[in-house]
Formats: sequence, structure tokens, C-alpha cells
Amino acid sequence: MVDQARPRATRSLRLGLLVAAIIGVVTGLFAWHQVQNERAIDLDDVGRRSHALAQQLSDRVLYALTLPDIQARALLRPRVEGYQRLLGYAVFRADGRLVAAGKAISDFTNKLDGPMREALQSGNEVTQLTRGAGMQVHVFAKKFPEKGEAEGVLVVVHDVSYIDDRALARLAQFAFWVLIVSLLAVALVVGSTWFVYERPLTRLADWMRRLRVDNVVESPPPGLPSGRLRSESDRLAASFRAARSTGRALSEAALYAEQVWTPERLRAHAMASLGEAHQLIVVSNREPYMHQWRDGRGYAIVPAGGLVTALDPVLQACGGVWIAHGAGNADRANADAEGRLTVPPGDARYTLKRVWLTREEEQGYYYGFSNEGLWPLCHLAHERPIFRAEDWEYYRQANRRFADAVLDEAGSSKAVVLVQDYQLALVPRMIKEARPDLCVGMFWHIPWPNPEAFRICPWGPEILEGMLGADLLGFHLQQYCNSFLETVDRVLESRLDWDHFSVELRGSRTRVRPFPISVQSWSERHVPEADALAQQIAELKTQHQLGDAFIAVGVDRIDYTKGLPERFRAIARLLEKYPQYRGRFTFVELGAPSRTHIPRYREHLDGLEALADEINWKYQSEGWKPIHFLVAHHDAKTVHAFLRMAPMCIVSSLHDGMNLVAKEYVAAQTGGDGVLVLSEFAGAARELADALIVNPYDTEQFAEAIRSGLEMDAGERRARMQRLSRQVEEHNIYRWAANFLSALAAERTAGTEAANTGKAASS
Ligand code: F6P
Repeated sequence: MVDQARPRATRSLRLGLLVAAIIGVVTGLFAWHQVQNERAIDLDDVGRRSHALAQQLSDRVLYALTLPDIQARALLRPRVEGYQRLLGYAVFRADGRLVAAGKAISDFTNKLDGPMREALQSGNEVTQLTRGAGMQVHVFAKKFPEKGEAEGVLVVVHDVSYIDDRALARLAQFAFWVLIVSLLAVALVVGSTWFVYERPLTRLADWMRRLRVDNVVESPPPGLPSGRLRSESDRLAASFRAARSTGRALSEAALYAEQVWTPERLRAHAMASLGEAHQLIVVSNREPYMHQWRDGRGYAIVPAGGLVTALDPVLQACGGVWIAHGAGNADRANADAEGRLTVPPGDARYTLKRVWLTREEEQGYYYGFSNEGLWPLCHLAHERPIFRAEDWEYYRQANRRFADAVLDEAGSSKAVVLVQDYQLALVPRMIKEARPDLCVGMFWHIPWPNPEAFRICPWGPEILEGMLGADLLGFHLQQYCNSFLETVDRVLESRLDWDHFSVELRGSRTRVRPFPISVQSWSERHVPEADALAQQIAELKTQHQLGDAFIAVGVDRIDYTKGLPERFRAIARLLEKYPQYRGRFTFVELGAPSRTHIPRYREHLDGLEALADEINWKYQSEGWKPIHFLVAHHDAKTVHAFLRMAPMCIVSSLHDGMNLVAKEYVAAQTGGDGVLVLSEFAGAARELADALIVNPYDTEQFAEAIRSGLEMDAGERRARMQRLSRQVEEHNIYRWAANFLSALAAERTAGTEAANTGKAASS
């Protein structure tokens, strides 16, 4: 920058100096000529005065020249003295003898000889400039009479030093003004070159650099020296944009042409679409690795739930920081003073930053407002939401904590922040209010209710405003996007654009789009395969006395939205209606206890255990029971082994944003022919059309679906599972993340363009 500025400054200074030199020489010559002119006029004036004085004295001089020297001198003496600039007179005879001279010139009468003799010889009036007594003197000599009688010469001497002094003073004055004019010329040339050319051209160069490097799409800088340059720059920017977007489209097309997304491809894509300068920050309530004390040691477990299943592979692929609540009882002991640690344990891929909440905050924000309020509000599971003012306060307080942690983590650098789920609805706006330049996306992992249902939330407007701080808001399904926009339409004063599915609130725009979330392949999770898997499965079967029965499996957090009682009842109905399956069909439920501080969840768990017990009591026989309800935190390897051993998986959510267990089951069926029984109320049902789709409330239909799965011929099972596998493999979690990041990058670019267009319009 400095290197470029210096030559520019030197160039304009050189131009300024050249202009100043030309002005200086021309005005200097003019001044010199003027001064010489004035000097000649002054001398001429002195000459004329001398002539007039000689005329006045002529009679007396003529008479004196006829007298002897003593009388002549006596006659002339009073007349030969001068005054002021007239130094005096001298009178000479024709033989050159001095008759009389004034006192002021008596010291240098020898200097008057030349003009005197010249006048005598030529008979003309003679004028000469010479020096005498340290002065510049003007000598005027006139011969008397011109013919006959007594000849002689009258010499008039003036001091003309003042003429040169005045000429010098005038020259000094001219020089001063020439200097001032030259300096002004330098300043004018340098200043106007800078204003008219250098500043606009430097800006143009910067703009071009940004266009090239940062993908800036603002209009060319104002004030370009020519209209042509501006219109050509506009055209250049337009072609550049077009070329870039074509390039992007081509590279996207090339990327998408390959069917399967991998972690490496996602990492490259993330760097390309967001720029390497951006760090990735994910923020959620639930942490991906939680430490729990067991036998005096802190063990890391991976909490159950779709969020962790989906986002952990993304962070492992892209790196970055995941900020989450440190909820494990050994979390503090397994993090540094800032709550940081690298994860996965033993294979550091990214940083987990734990946020600490007080017991009261956890109670009010997580158990209270999030899970007794928003969770039932968003799920149509006929559970009444509970809204308490103190829970709302804790919710705000905890959201502020998460937002502060994000801002702290971002520091002053660029960052892409991915805010996760309903526990953090206020975080996007909190971040944007402090750092409008950060790129914020939010993903809502649960369903969005219809506007009527949402309106019962006393703090609905605040929730919506918080979410609308994000640049991009993602839901699993288009239907949730529609409901969200309808809700905003009813609740907030904002501008909705149904064509582009966006909302404009307080000058910022949020794009709302569906992004059906997914999973990674099991092979990436280092689970046992081949013989090791066969052995693990054999051990599990022995441990749980599963025998040779046909196994159906369910994997869920124990939550009233998952339709577990409905599932148990459908199994009971199957066994009731088709007794041939007693002893031959076993259902294994891997149930992870969840949110157990909430009474409704405890009651639900108790109710489920009682129901399983009741059904088992009714149908069990020696060495066989229909339902194995395994309540525990099951690790990934165990879940995988059950998904692989079971020829059927049952997902019966009453309402579910997506349900990743359905996709996990399909992903586990490498070359298999398992059957997926899937609730029509889980988001996954929109993509997994080859599952046996059921209404979990319809026990009869549900039981029939299980039966048809049990009896489906191998060919159909295989064909369905192949189609399902292709769907899950091609639309894996890496593609989900790539789509989300691309859309977020596009929003950021669109936002920059809109802001620049606004700026250009207002300037
Ligand atoms: O699916 C909704 C969700 O909140 C996810 O964000 C999370 O994976 C899951 O439920 C588990 O819930 P929690 O974090 O309350 O255990």
C-alpha cells in the first residue's frame, strides 16, 4: 500500500513542480522585462531633467566662459552646487580645464572627462552612467556654444543609485509573488490530481481487488473521472459476478454430480463457500460428549438425540468450536479453566467449549421453559405446555450466556455461527445485535406448530424476533417453513416474501428453508464389522435371552412424543390377533432415560415400564417375553449391533421433526433386507417412502403393518431396503451440512449486495 502511494505522490509532485517552474520562468521573464522598462524610463527622466537644467544655466555659463578663470569661477560658484539627487554641475573650457565644479562631484571630476571630451568632439549632448564616490551616477554633458565665441562644456551629474535600488526592490517583489504563485500551482496541481484522478482511481483499484479476492459485489466507487470508466466498471463487475456464479454453479454441479458426500468433500466445500478466514462455531444446549463419574473416574458418553448424531460428524469434518451446556457431573473435572477440551476424546478433531449454568438456570431454562413449554408447544402430542414467568426469565438469562460465549469465541474475527434448536431461540438476535457482521444460521430440530397453537405462548413475539436475528433459518420440512411464515405473519409486524420464503424484520432479512437432516454411515464410526460384529451380536442375544426369535428393535429417548405406549399396544395387538407369533417375535426397546427431572417424563417412564410388564405378563412363556425394555444409556456400538441383528425397526413418533433412528436403521442395513415400520408423523416419512408407513394412533393398522413386515417376501424387503439405503446414503449428513452452509453463504452474499445497493442509493 505504502509502496504504491509513494510513486503516485512523487508523480503528482513532479507534475506540480513542472507547472510551477513554467509559471515561474514565464512570470520571471515578464517581471525582468517590466523592471528594465521602468529603469529605462527613470533614466530617461533624469536625462530630460539634466537637459532642462543645462538650458536654464546656458546664459550664465556662456557669459562665464568669456571671463578669465577667477571671475568665471566666482560667477559660477553659487550655481554649481546641487541638491537632493542632483549632485551638482561642472564647467570645462574647450581645452579641458575645469572652471568650476560643485562640492559633491569635486572628488570624481576625472570620471567626467570622458563624456566631457566626447561632447566637445561631437558637439552632441552626451549621457553616461558611471560610478563615483560609491554611487551610481548619471552624467550629462553639453557643449557651449555650438559654434564660435568661447567654447566650453557643462556637465550635470545626478545620483541615480535610487533607480537600481528601486529596480531591485521591484524584482524582489516579483520574485516573492512568483514564489507564491508557484507554490499555489504546485498545491493546486497535486490537490486536483489527487481529487480528480488519484483518489477515485485508488478506490477503483481497491474495489477491483475486493471484487477479485473477497467476492465483493458492491457498485464501483463514486467520483470516477470519466462516465465511461464508471459504466465500464459496472459492466466489469456484472461480468465478474456472472462468471463467478457460473463458476460456482459449475463447481457445485460437479460436486453434486458425484452422488455421495464425504467428510473431505464437506470440508473442501465449507472452505470454498465460507472462505478460509471464517471459523465455524456451533452452539447448542446439548453437548456432543458428556463426562460422567463412574467408579471414581470420569467417562465420556455421547448423549442420545438427533442433534448430536447429526452435528458431531460435521464438526469432525470441518473443525471449529462447539459451545454447549456442560451438563455432565464430571464435566468440570474434564475441561480446562475456560471449560474447553478437544474432542472426540483421544482423537482431537474440534474444540468443545462448555458453558456452565446454575442449577436454577438449568431448571428454569432447560427443564422448565424449553421442555415443559416449547417442547409440548411444538409437538402435537396432546401434552399441555406449561409457561412460567420465572422459567422465561431463566431462558433469557441462559440464552444470553450462550450468546456471550459465542461472541467471546468469535473475538474480533469473522465467524460462521450455527445456532441449534429451540433451547436457543433468542441467541441469533443477541449475536447479531452485538456483531451484525457475523454470519448466523439457525436450525430448528423439532416441528414448528401451526400459528393457532403457537399463539398460546405468552412470549411468542420475543421467540420469533430472536430467531429472526439469523440470516438463514432451517427446518426439516417445507411444511414447518410454511407454518413458521404463517406464524410470523400473524404475530409480528414484518415484511414477508412468500416467493423467496423470507422475512424482513428491522432492516434485516431471514431466509427460511427446509433442510432434512440426516446421518453419517456406520462404517465411519468404527463399529465392529464382520466376525467381531457377529460375536457381539451373539453375546447380546445371550445376555438378553433373545433366542432365535424374529427381532424388531426401537431406539428412542424416553419421551412422550415417541409413541412408545402406542408401539407396545400395537405389539400386544399383534400377539393377540396372530398368536402364531407368540414365542417367535420379540421387540427390543433401547430406551435412553431423558429429562427425568420433569415429573411428566418420570411418569411416562413408570407408565411404560408398567405397560411393558403388563404385556409381558400376559403373553410371555418359558424362555421368551415379547418386550425387552432396556432402559439405559446405550453406546453407539450397542445400538449398531441391535440395528444390525434386527430384521425390523419400529419408529412410532406421535410427532417428530425428523427422527434419525429411522435413518440410522437404514444406514445399518448394508446389503441387508430389514423392514422399517415408520410413523407418518415423523419428518423422516417424507423421504423414506419405502418404509411401512403407519398411524401410531391406529393400533389395528399398526399391528397389521408389523405383521406385513414379518411376512413380506425377501425380494420385496430387499428392493425396498435398497431404495431406502440409496436415499440415506446420497442424502447423508455431509450433504445436509453442505446445503446449509451454501445457503448461508448465499444469504451472506445477498445481504452484502442488498446493503451495498442501499448504500449506493442513499449516497
Ligand atoms: O430432537 C430434538 C432435541 O432437542 C435435539 O435437539 C436433541 O438431540 C434431542 O432432542 C435430545 O434432547 P435433550 O437434549 O433434551 O436430551
